[in-house]
Amino acid sequence: MRNDLTGTRPSFLREGPVESPRHEYIGWGVIHGMYRGGLGSELDDVAKDFVKARDLDLGIFTYDVMGTKAHVMMLYNSNIISRKDAAGMLTVLEEVEERILEGSITQDGEDCHEFIEKYITQRLGDEVGGKIQTGRSRNDQVATAIKLRLRHDTTIIQMRILYLIKRLIDIADENKETIVPLYTHLQHAQVGVLSHYFMAFVDALTRDFERFQDMYKRLNTNPLGSGPAGGTNIPINRSMTTKTLAFSRMHMNSLDATSNRDYMSEFVSCAAIMMVNLSRMAEDLVLWSSSEFSFIEITDRLASPSSIMPQKKNPDILELVRGKAATALGCLTSVLAVQKGLATGYGRDLQETKDAVWVTADDAQGALQVMSSTLYGLKIDKRRMVETTKAGHILALDIAEKLVEEGVPFRKAHMEVGALVAVVRSQDRELIDLTDEEIGSATTLDTKTIRNILNQCTAQKSAYERRSMGSTSAREQYRFIEKGRKDLEHMLSQMEKQKSQHATALNEMREKIKEIVPMDKR
Ligand code: ARG
Repeated sequence: MRNDLTGTRPSFLREGPVESPRHEYIGWGVIHGMYRGGLGSELDDVAKDFVKARDLDLGIFTYDVMGTKAHVMMLYNSNIISRKDAAGMLTVLEEVEERILEGSITQDGEDCHEFIEKYITQRLGDEVGGKIQTGRSRNDQVATAIKLRLRHDTTIIQMRILYLIKRLIDIADENKETIVPLYTHLQHAQVGVLSHYFMAFVDALTRDFERFQDMYKRLNTNPLGSGPAGGTNIPINRSMTTKTLAFSRMHMNSLDATSNRDYMSEFVSCAAIMMVNLSRMAEDLVLWSSSEFSFIEITDRLASPSSIMPQKKNPDILELVRGKAATALGCLTSVLAVQKGLATGYGRDLQETKDAVWVTADDAQGALQVMSSTLYGLKIDKRRMVETTKAGHILALDIAEKLVEEGVPFRKAHMEVGALVAVVRSQDRELIDLTDEEIGSATTLDTKTIRNILNQCTAQKSAYERRSMGSTSAREQYRFIEKGRKDLEHMLSQMEKQKSQHATALNEMREKIKEIVPMDKR
């Protein structure tokens, strides 16, 4: 946005009606606002800055070129433009793509769609360039580009989820017997094994993966050829662009195709839910790395020093996973809020959904990577973990359940053990330290039975031998890990298919472009 530092007031602060010079009509590729043929004047300077898609529309630029190539190929195949025109356009589109990749373009125009049309028009002249927008509008064009980009991002995110799942399973496998306290309300709840913790996040991330997979089905439909809202009278071939761009089907209703942004809401929603899961894990690791817990040490490569305190090793990277989860929640709110009051049919408000989605996509990919790296570099202090379970009467429930085995009703057992805990709690002692006299006066149960249970109940036995399905037991840990590996293999093979669909479509597109563009032009 232009500011007033130079002394010239922005035009919206000037008094009276905004005056803009009538554009000089030297050809429709040369004027700034190339779509403004029906309007009397150029867009006001301040409004020009305001309306611009941010950051050169880099979020979708290459995807818009891809969509445009498919459109041009279809126009040629449907005899709407000549081979010569198509070859010219495709050659220039390749050049635009190269320039985007090397970072040598500067934004000229409202968005990447205008840039592309203008660039082609400048290169090939008004007659040829003026044909590129035949049978499409920026409304179906932008939806197509966004979907192509999100398809790519979803695939990367899904792959990164799977890498993280792999690391979680491996680290769980190494820690099937590592005794650890399990918490509720951040207080000792039950004794457990560390593999149980890591496998819990395998479950959460598998759901995240499946959520993206499910949303991908709805994302992968082709809006191209929907025109501004109601289609076109130009004899385009939507099936062809659907195939060229490897969409699974056409997005049939042109009005829905151009006005809905459900796929953006769904994408950010899937990402936000996943970020919240990663944030929870990050918080555990932050806590566990504190001096109070000292359960783990985070590798130096993923920690930061303090600018003043020489002893500090701060878990900044994990803290940022937490922080970026908050950003994702904000982005989700923003994407939904933009849409909620819109009358059906494209509205420029929709442009504002893009930035929030790119931010979320980048953060989600980054967070998955740093979480994997953290788990690769993690040092676990097993001794300290087991040591901690000795305090806090963590075996109280296991003791009560042993009394149930002896025929005591659970509520009575709960109260009796509670009474024993009350004796030692105030004296900072453990249940095992109770004397027979203390047991005798605190409970109505047989002292010998209780003494036996106290002697038998160890952290290891309690955690390894729990009977219920899904518990911390050794048997269940083996089963989780085996199933986790099998599911992972299945998900990986699904991803191979998904990735190869894109790659094949891209290669086929390249081959077809070679057929259209004569050798000497390449
Ligand atoms: N830059 C716009 C967006 O991101 C493209 C569509 C503009 N369409 C229109 N009818 N003004 O949404």
